Parts: sequence; structure tokens; C-alpha cells
Amino acid sequence: MAARGLLLLLLPLLRGYASKVEVSMPSVVEVDLGHTAMLPCSFFILPDSNITYIHWSYITRSSRIRIYSWVQGKEFVEDSPYVGRVSMDDTFTLAITQTTLQDARVFVCQVGAGSLGVGENRTELRVYKAPEPPEIHANEAGISVGTRESQEIAECVVRNSFPGPNITWLKDGHRLHPEDDKVKIMDTRTQEASGLFTARSRLLAHVTRQDRHAYFQCQAHYLLSGGDRQAQSPKVQVHIFYPTENVSLVIDAPRPQVKEGDHVTLHCQGDGNPPPEYSFFRVQNNTATGEEEEHELLGKVDKGVLSLGKVHKEYTGHYRCKGLDLDTMETLTADAELVVNYIEGLKVTKESPEPVLEGHNLTLTCEARGSRPLAFHWHKDKKGKALGSGPQLQLSNVMREAAGNYICEVTMPGVQGLSRNKQALVVVYGKPQPWRSLSPPSPGAPTGR
Ligand SMILES: *[C@@H]1O[C@H](CO)[C@@H](O)[C@H](O)[C@H]1NC(C)=O
Ligand SMILES: *[C@@H]1O[C@H](CO)[C@@H](O)[C@H](O)[C@H]1NC(C)=O
Ligand SMILES: *[C@@H]1O[C@H](CO)[C@@H](O)[C@H](O)[C@H]1NC(C)=O
Ligand SMILES: *[C@@H]1O[C@H](CO)[C@@H](O)[C@H](O)[C@H]1NC(C)=O
Ligand SMILES: *[C@@H]1O[C@H](CO)[C@@H](O)[C@H](O)[C@H]1NC(C)=O
Ligand SMILES: *[C@@H]1O[C@H](CO)[C@@H](O)[C@H](O)[C@H]1NC(C)=O
Repeated sequence: MAARGLLLLLLPLLRGYASKVEVSMPSVVEVDLGHTAMLPCSFFILPDSNITYIHWSYITRSSRIRIYSWVQGKEFVEDSPYVGRVSMDDTFTLAITQTTLQDARVFVCQVGAGSLGVGENRTELRVYKAPEPPEIHANEAGISVGTRESQEIAECVVRNSFPGPNITWLKDGHRLHPEDDKVKIMDTRTQEASGLFTARSRLLAHVTRQDRHAYFQCQAHYLLSGGDRQAQSPKVQVHIFYPTENVSLVIDAPRPQVKEGDHVTLHCQGDGNPPPEYSFFRVQNNTATGEEEEHELLGKVDKGVLSLGKVHKEYTGHYRCKGLDLDTMETLTADAELVVNYIEGLKVTKESPEPVLEGHNLTLTCEARGSRPLAFHWHKDKKGKALGSGPQLQLSNVMREAAGNYICEVTMPGVQGLSRNKQALVVVYGKPQPWRSLSPPSPGAPTGR
């Protein structure tokens, strides 16, 4: 029993003695496909001892296959897939050029130092290949809001990577995760004949009308020597169809207060995609029955716009637009009121007697009707000074110089650009002048009888 125990204790010591050659190698070396892999092999031996050989091999499941040997200063490249691709420099680093996917395996460096024994260590060579840029294909047919099942938004393909890439999805830059019935992500990965992997991912999701502005993107995650890498696909948008929920009718004119002669268009806007079919109506109350009557406005309706052209007062009234959603066959309506401001029936009357005798009084009265309260201003001749405001102009003690054209200008406060004017000729008869008067009659003014 005791002897046996002693032997067990001795064994590790004996082993330590037998392998005085300590070989040091990195456990993993990474290389990008096609590039040169450098596998260092370093060792420590006692001074004055010599190396007799170095053998490089790779390991398969069942055996060890030698690819390169260095024996007492001579190189031997063994018959293997590495013929022509391996060399060793004077620091004992093995270089493998034009790496292939098959080179992703474990390599052994074995160092023999005569009586000192043999030492070895191993390195796993990892080969990486970056995929091609991710391709994204959006569903071109478009998606309807409100269907029960989630529908395919896009498919992403990441080709030819080693090892296999992963794909994630982004919506407006935020990562999407699978979520019950709302978001489904279906991934597949295939290995090509070349040994490279291609990953595909389909994104299925429920969409809402808010998603009409969303952009989708996929992201490839892969490994390269040196760490994790990512590559993003271009951004895509998906056509989203949603029913019309609201329709609005807007009256478009040069200014808020419409006047006669303005160019007016009716804008009808439904919020569905595709937009509804539009039609326009004038709505009037039948005075006899008290019932509402719709009269369709026939004209060229382009994208929900109908031009009424230059309007006049008869255009004042109630307008209606209808939007027919061709998917739901529902009709929505919107109404708007149009008021066309006008001034009409303008006339100026003079209080008799007429013509006016010099020194008498004269009242000019301006009359007009309008859609809103009116303002009156008087002036004499085209560019004469303002004489006053209000519908009546009192001229007292009229002199001959007062003869001429009196203009009444009518405007509508609050309605920019609406004005009308009318003029009245005032004739003044002078009193008979004394014959010796030196003053000649004023030019243009009629002379007294
Ligand atoms: C192999 O080399 C590594 C790195 O120098 C070292 O840590 C390890 O102990 C060595 N393994 C053997 C079996 O010598
Ligand atoms: C190492 O090699 C040198 C020269 O080749 C020789 O002189 C020496 O004896 C060798 N040492 C051992 C320990 O074999
Ligand atoms: C891919 O995903 C798997 C599982 O989450 C993960 O283990 C692996 O490291 C990922 N690969 C890359 C290249 O990101
Ligand atoms: C439609 O109009 C209603 C009432 O004005 C409003 O509550 C609703 O948010 C609108 N819907 C949309 C999609 O704009
Ligand atoms: C029709 O008459 C009703 C009831 O008097 C009124 O509410 C409605 O605004 C009228 N419509 C039009 C277009 O004048
Ligand atoms: C003219 O009007 C004034 C008051 O505005 C009055 O005093 C005068 O008597 C009137 N003249 C005539 C001729 O009616």
C-alpha cells in the first residue's frame, strides 16, 4: 500500500521531468477568409540544448495529420491540402496563406529537443467571412390595416457569411422583438455549397394607419476577426391601406371674406389610403316641403378639388362634399358655408329742386344694398378731396364753383377690395350778374340764364 502511494506521488514529478520542453501557443487565432493566418509557436528550453525537430499537424476527429516538418534545419512539406500554402519563419511562426473555410480547425505544434524530450501545444484557427450587404425586399402589394393576421412587411437576406449571420429588425430605428400576434419574425439559415451561410428573415406584423410613415430596416450581425460587426440594410416603407375615417371640406378663396369676382375652389379631403371618391353638392331647403335637397355640382373634380370659378352672390349657400370609400363602401360627408359678399343697387339721388340755384342748399343721397353693413364716402371729381362720409352729403349755400361730379364710393368694412362708386353731376345756376361785373364766368361751369 505504502509503495503504491509513493509511486502516485512520484508520477507528476517524473512527467514534469520528461517534458522539459514547454511550448506556448495562443488558444485561438482568427483570420478573415482568404487572408494569411499566422500561428506562432514559442518554447523555452535550457541553454545549450538544441531542437531536433518541429512538426506542425492538424487534428481531425480521429487522427492527426502532419502538414509541415522542420528536422535539423531542413523543411519538409507533407502531402496535404497545405502544399504550397505553408511556410515557417525563424521565429517558428507558421503562415498559412489563402485561408479557406476548411482551415477552421485545430493545429498542433510539436517540438522535439533530443534528450530533453518533446513538448506540444495547440491553436484553434477560426476563419471568418463578412456577409454581403443585407438586402431588404418590402412587400410591394401593400398591407391593409385591420386584418386579423399579421402580414408580411419585408424579407431580409444576408448572404455568404461564415459563421452564419443573425438578422434583427428595426422600425424607425428601434429594435423589433417578436410579440404574440403582433410581431412575428421567421428566420431561416442555409449553408451554400461553398460552405458559407445565408440567413433569411421575414418580418410579419400588424400595422396601423400611423405606420404609413414608418420605415423598416434589417440589420445583419456577424463576426469578423476582431469582434462583432453589424451592417444595416437600406430603409424601406410599406404601402399601408386604411379606411377613410374623416372627410373635411374647405373653401379656398383669395381671402377669408369672399366677394363677388373672387375665384373659389372647394377642397374635399378624406384621410383614407387610397383616398375616397369625391362628389360635391349644393344643398338647399325646399321652401315648400322644408326638406333638404342636394344638387350635385358637375364639374371636373380632380383629387378632391372642384373649382367654382368666379363667384357672384347667387353662389352664397350651403355646400357638401361626399367621400365614398371604395373598400368599405361607406360614405362620409362634410359641409361648409359659402358667403359671397356683394354691393348692388347703387344710386345717388339729388334733392329737388334741380338744377340748383346759386346760394341754395343741396342734399345728395347715396343708396346701395349689400351682404353686410356698408360705408359711404364722398368726393368731388375723380381726384378731388374727401368731402365726408355717410349716405348723405349736404351742400349748403352752393356757389357756382361747386358745380361738377360728386362721387359716392361704397365699401364694405371687413371685406377687403370690395367697392363700388357712382357719380352725380351737379349743375348750378347763377343769379343774374350785374352787367358791369369784371369777373368772367368760371370756365366749364354753366352760366346763369
Ligand atoms: C499552451 O500555451 C498557453 C499559452 O502560452 C499556455 O497557457 C498553456 O499552458 C499551454 N498549454 C500546454 C499544454 O502547454
Ligand atoms: C547543440 O548543437 C551544437 C552545434 O550543432 C553542438 O555543439 C551541441 O553539442 C549541441 N548540444 C546538445 C545538447 O545536443
Ligand atoms: C446569433 O444569435 C445567437 C443566438 O442568440 C448567438 O449565440 C450568436 O452569437 C449570434 N451570432 C452573431 C454573429 O451575432
Ligand atoms: C376624425 O374626426 C374625429 C372627430 O373630429 C376625431 O376625433 C378623430 O380623431 C379623427 N380621426 C382621424 C383619423 O383624424
Ligand atoms: C334648412 O333648414 C333647417 C331647419 O330650419 C336648417 O337647420 C338648415 O340649416 C337649413 N339648410 C340650409 C341649407 O339652408
Ligand atoms: C340752407 O341750410 C341752412 C342750414 O343748414 C339754412 O340755415 C338755410 O336757410 C338754408 N337755405 C335755403 C335757401 O334753404
